[in-house]
Amino acid sequence: MKILAIETSCDDTAVALVEGADAGAGASFTLLGNGAFSQIPLHQEYGGVYPTVAKREHGKNLVPMLKAALEEAGMLREESSAMPELDGLLARDPELSAAFAAFIPSIQKPDIDAIAVTYGPGLAPALWVGVNFAKALAKAWDVPLVPINHMEGHMLAGLLRSDDRKTMALDAPDFPLLTLLISGGHTELMLMKERFSYELVGKTRDDAVGEAFDKVARMMGLPYPGGPEIAKLAEAGRAKGGAQPFKLPRPMLHEESCDFSWSGIKTSVLYLLKKKELSEDEREKLAEDFEDAVVEVLWEKTRRALGETGARLLALGGGVSANTRIRAVFKENMAREFPEAALRIPPPWLTTDNAVMIGVAGYFRAKAGQYAEAEGLAADSNLTLAQ
Ligand code: KG4
Ligand code: ZN
Repeated sequence: MKILAIETSCDDTAVALVEGADAGAGASFTLLGNGAFSQIPLHQEYGGVYPTVAKREHGKNLVPMLKAALEEAGMLREESSAMPELDGLLARDPELSAAFAAFIPSIQKPDIDAIAVTYGPGLAPALWVGVNFAKALAKAWDVPLVPINHMEGHMLAGLLRSDDRKTMALDAPDFPLLTLLISGGHTELMLMKERFSYELVGKTRDDAVGEAFDKVARMMGLPYPGGPEIAKLAEAGRAKGGAQPFKLPRPMLHEESCDFSWSGIKTSVLYLLKKKELSEDEREKLAEDFEDAVVEVLWEKTRRALGETGARLLALGGGVSANTRIRAVFKENMAREFPEAALRIPPPWLTTDNAVMIGVAGYFRAKAGQYAEAEGLAADSNLTLAQ
C-alpha cells in the first residue's frame, strides 16, 4: 500500500511517499520519495517559530516538496487537465487555494492508495496549509484521505528500525509501550496500550522541554535553535571537569506524578544572568547544570512511568532526543534499572518532524479503513491522542 504523506504542523514542510507492507506480525516500509524543507534559518531572526511566516513558507514550499518526492519515486508526470471544483472545500485561505487549484491539474495522479495528512496538534495556520493541500489533491486525484495525529507519527517513528534512509522495519509491538516525546512543541510520556489506543501518562505543565532549551539559549545570547548550542557549551564544561558552581532547581522531581515543569529552571537562569556577568567557563558550567537538571527530571519521570505502567519498551522521540547527554544517560539507566525492557532511540532524521512518520501512521490507519471525508476535515491545533 502506497501512502503520500504531508506534514506542516510546525516549521518543516515535508512530503513523503511511503510504501508499507505487512511483515509477519509487524510491518516494513520503503521510503520511495522524500521532499523536506526546514524553515529554521528563516525563523532564526525571530528567535523562534513565527506562525505567519511558517504558513507563508509552507504555501510556497509544498508544491516543490511534492514534486521532489514524486520525482524521486519516479512518479512525477506532468500533464494538463481540468481541475475539479474546489469551491468551499478549502477553508480559510482563498489565495492559497487558488494557487493549489492552479498547480494540481498539471500533475498526473501518481500510483498511490491514500493521502495521509497531519491535522493536529500544531500551529493552526501552518496545519491548515497542509490540510487544504491534501484535500485538494484527494479531490483532484480521487484518492482517500487519512487524517493523522502528529503525536501518533512521533510514537510510531520511535518504533522504527532503519539502517539506511530507505527501508524501515517495525516489529510486532510488545504492548504496552511507552514513548517519551521531547521537542520544541511537546513533552509527553505517552503509553500505547494497543494499536490506536493511548494513555497520556505525563505532560508538561508549562513549556515544552525544547522550548526551555531555546529560551535559556536566548537568554545566554545563543542563536535559535538553542538545544544544540546549549549542548555544545555543556559538553565543553563537562570535558573541563572541576567543581559545579551552580545548582539549578530540579522542578517536580519528588512529586508523585509523571508531569513536568520547566519554568522554574528558566526563571533561575534568568535571575542568575541578571545578577552577574558570567565568564566563558561559568557559562559552560551553567549550560552543563541546565542540561543535567533537564536529564535528571526527564529520567526520574520516565522511571516512574515505566514502573507504574509496566511498559516493556521505551522509545524516545522529538528533536530534543538528539541530545547526546540524554541518549547516554537513558541508555545507562535503562540497562541498570530496567534490564528486561528495551530502549529505542531512532536516528535524528526520524525523531525530528518529518512526513515519513505520518506515512507510517497513515499506513496503519488506512489499513483499518479510517478515512475522512475531505469536506469535513479541519485542522485542530489542540488535537490530543489521549487525555
Ligand atoms: O522535533 P523538533 O525538530 O521540532 C519540534 O519542535 O516539533 O524539535 C526541535 C527542538 C528545538 O527546541 C531544539 O532546540 C531541540 O529540539 N534540540 C535539542 C537538540 N537538538 C535539537 N535540544 C537539546 N539538545 C540537542 N542536541
Ligand atoms: Zn513534532
